Amino acid sequence: MSKIATLEIDGKKYEFPIVEGTENEVAIDIKSLRASSNVITLDPGYKNTGSCESAITFLDGEKGILRYRGYSIEELADKASFLEVCFLLIFGELPTQEELTKFHKDIKGQSIVDEDMKRILDGFPKSAHPMGVLASLTNALVAFNPSSVNVDSEEDMYKAIVKILGKFPVLVAWTMRKKMSLPLNYGDTSLGYVENIHKMMFQQPNEDYKVDRAVIEALDKLLILHADHEQNCSTSTVRIVGSSHSGLFASLSAGIAALWGPLHGGANQAVIEMLEAIKADGGDTSKFILKAKDKNDSFRLMGFGHRVYKNFDPRAKIIKKAADEVLGELGIEDPVLDIAKGLEKVALEDEYFISRNLYPNVDFYSGIIYRALGIPTDMFTVMFALGRLPGWIAQWKEMRLGKEPIGRPRQVYIGHTHRTFKTRSER
Ligand code: ACO
Repeated sequence: MSKIATLEIDGKKYEFPIVEGTENEVAIDIKSLRASSNVITLDPGYKNTGSCESAITFLDGEKGILRYRGYSIEELADKASFLEVCFLLIFGELPTQEELTKFHKDIKGQSIVDEDMKRILDGFPKSAHPMGVLASLTNALVAFNPSSVNVDSEEDMYKAIVKILGKFPVLVAWTMRKKMSLPLNYGDTSLGYVENIHKMMFQQPNEDYKVDRAVIEALDKLLILHADHEQNCSTSTVRIVGSSHSGLFASLSAGIAALWGPLHGGANQAVIEMLEAIKADGGDTSKFILKAKDKNDSFRLMGFGHRVYKNFDPRAKIIKKAADEVLGELGIEDPVLDIAKGLEKVALEDEYFISRNLYPNVDFYSGIIYRALGIPTDMFTVMFALGRLPGWIAQWKEMRLGKEPIGRPRQVYIGHTHRTFKTRSER
């Protein structure tokens, strides 16, 4: 028997169906609330609001569980490739070898970016933040690929998906190379998806391209860990922009802008900057812990805390181990890693952090790996965007195929009630 929730307002009772997810998440379906009662819900930051039903990613913040399409993040990070995870997220199942080969071939077939895009990139100053550049270039793709996706055509949808998976890494690489004053290049279709991305980013014009296997494996793992995270700020942005039937590329560009912020994807850059600042200040972690706890100080321990993980972030566990491994294999000693570990230890024993359930999140350690891979600090969030791309695509696709209505929250107005206009001399 289906369950019902009853709400009483001013003595009048209203009933709403209760929706239950496959992992027992319970929600009150209030779609009819305003129509029946003239009342709305108020939930700034949407901490208690489900914006959709989704079959892509499950996470349990209390238990520290994260699964893509039912597969645990631990197993995927250990056994799958990023390209397999892309397929899984977007199409719902792990690909067979045949499907994976075709998928990769189709992506490679779409990996040329119009040469005129270089002129747009040229217009940016070298000092521009790569996230701003990436968001603009992704939006500019719309102009070069103007036909809108017919979401009712499976073929059209597939084409748009492989197109962005082919072109986006080129934009990522160009964004970095422009900053580093390196010539812009194209990929090498003989390489794996992630190795090709690495080559596009790092190939020097006067040297043969060589890479340590450990680097590609670490990069692959980082991209998998960032691939989706259900209805976070940037993903909700992609879904809400897409809900107005803006195209896929425009929706992704909006997602990139949302991810840029230091409270979201920008945290990985902020973490390294914070660790560097602690190092420059003599390495006294307790001083910064005090600052983070001080209500009169706006300083926050970057890479700590998470909107939904309230015990631990499962990705942080995997990434901490990966950071140790990759630095070990590459023979890198990074004092910033020691500061990070020291900071984590102090914070995890501190009452302030314990009582607020503040634990290291995925970005506390990701920056350290990116640094070890030679990726410039202001490119960290771009790498996050690259990893999140399949998640955004999957969520956009689910939203469009689910025929979701346009996203349009309401508000409780608290401004002036009606006022009569005053002429300038009366003010
Ligand atoms: N350092 C110090 N105090 C913190 C921190 C932090 N990093 N995070 C939260 N707090 C404190 C708040 O001051 C607040 O304290 P109070 O109850 O005494 O007022 C309490 O913990 C709850 O904080 P909220 O901001 O309400 O928690 P919320 O769930 O809304 O925010 C967020 C989560 C934005 C991630 C926050 O923890 C934060 O700013 N962290 C640092 C930035 C960061 O690492 N972001 C990356 C997120 S992961 C990702 O996007 C991949």
